[in-house]
Amino acid sequence: MLSDDDWWRDAVVYQVYPRSFADASGDGVGDLAGVRGRLGYLRDLGVDAVWLSPFYTSPMADGGYDVADYRDVDPVFGTLADFDALVADAHALGIRVIVDLVPNHSSDQHPWFRAGLRDRYIFRDEPNDWESIFGGPAWTQAEDGQWYLHLFAPEQPDLNWDNPEVRAEFRDILRFWLDRGVDGFRVDVAHGMVKAAGLPDVGPKEGRQAELLGDERLPYFDQDGVHDIYREWRPILDSYPGGRMAVAEAWVSSPERLARYVGPDELHQAFSFDFMMADFHAKSFRAVIEKALAEAELVGAPTTWVLSNHDKPRHVTRHGSLARARAATLLMLALPGSAYLYNGEELGLPEVLDLPDELRQDPAFLRTGESRDGCRVPIPWTSEAGFGWRDPWLPIPGSWGPLSAEAQQDDPGSTLNLYRAALRVRKEHPALGGGTLTWLDSPKDVLAIERHPGLVVVLNTGDEPVRLDAAGRVLLSSGPVPGDGTIPPDTTVWLER
Ligand code: NOJ
Repeated sequence: MLSDDDWWRDAVVYQVYPRSFADASGDGVGDLAGVRGRLGYLRDLGVDAVWLSPFYTSPMADGGYDVADYRDVDPVFGTLADFDALVADAHALGIRVIVDLVPNHSSDQHPWFRAGLRDRYIFRDEPNDWESIFGGPAWTQAEDGQWYLHLFAPEQPDLNWDNPEVRAEFRDILRFWLDRGVDGFRVDVAHGMVKAAGLPDVGPKEGRQAELLGDERLPYFDQDGVHDIYREWRPILDSYPGGRMAVAEAWVSSPERLARYVGPDELHQAFSFDFMMADFHAKSFRAVIEKALAEAELVGAPTTWVLSNHDKPRHVTRHGSLARARAATLLMLALPGSAYLYNGEELGLPEVLDLPDELRQDPAFLRTGESRDGCRVPIPWTSEAGFGWRDPWLPIPGSWGPLSAEAQQDDPGSTLNLYRAALRVRKEHPALGGGTLTWLDSPKDVLAIERHPGLVVVLNTGDEPVRLDAAGRVLLSSGPVPGDGTIPPDTTVWLER
């Protein structure tokens, strides 16, 4: 509970994308009062914490990841008073609050950029060959002919972390939110702030540079100097009571490199994106789980699992079916460590693939044709037309009535009730949460692990039902099981020995 400094080690954290979660003001865009109004839903779901994607003052060139004032709430989301009320109510329900911190870049509407404080950004007379993650060159020319660096949209100039004023500012921003009672930070582009000295060219590559992320080190990501920043931040977090933490969003080339971000003098967690990117196959899952656990153990950190977020197609669609998504979720929630859920996955929402182009808002869409809007469609709360929204900023598919929270609320077989049951068992069963796992022998398309004491988790990714010797009483299953000791395809079961 709230006094435990290590709460984050096995926490289930629920990501709220504020624009899409719940709208109290009725303007079609979600807001903080909307989140506050749904805290009861989150308590009933059984999550330990919420992570709020950015709600700060922003022109919304990148859905709020372009921050113009790091210490205020954008009017579309409410006020600082709304934020304080949300934190107070969440804490009263035993739910912690993590906020997003965006230190790699600000908005071009940030007062520093508007005032022309060029030493706080990265200006050069000539651009190099770096490309924006959102497509096109990473440099835009200012009126006087100089170029500024933006690893994302042109409206998101990269900050210059060689400048001590930038460092001091972010230490102060951390304290601002810690003083307001936040329990932690999700650090955006945690691998980006420090660039290789001299800004060397990447050189000729096949395809877009962004496609190399995860395979190769680029001169603008995962530079060793970035760790000095976290070593500056950690004592600040540690100076507050109650276990304040930070989780890194770091896309790096290997689990070894990822593990460097966590530990007693840096950040507490780093998302294991390899798990999110794995194919739905026992072998792929096992490979990434083994590697992530081994690396995390070396630095004494828990592993941080995730299947969906606001940047990737929802896992129902990625893995090809709701049955597979539910099976992957039960696997994730049985692994040692902490797990992050993305709003709407508990309803089994699929990616929306047919949004009209003119409604898409992702800045990457215009440049690459790829868009993250399909996982950002607002949450259907009620089953009737409108789904609890008036004129939502992205249209909710008319077919989503049966997926709404209202429709699933009392249906024992619903995905919502599967998530609730899984989180309840996870909390109550001594084998789940932290700890270790043992791999059990299993057929080729089956993944079987034992959690101690007395829990066996089996995932069947093959085409045929399987029967296991390790069978026991079924505590929970991601889909129907016949009761004859066999496990159907695309199904995970939690068995008690
Ligand atoms: C990662 C965030 O998750 C994503 O939504 C954003 O576009 C980029 N960082 C840039 O801030």
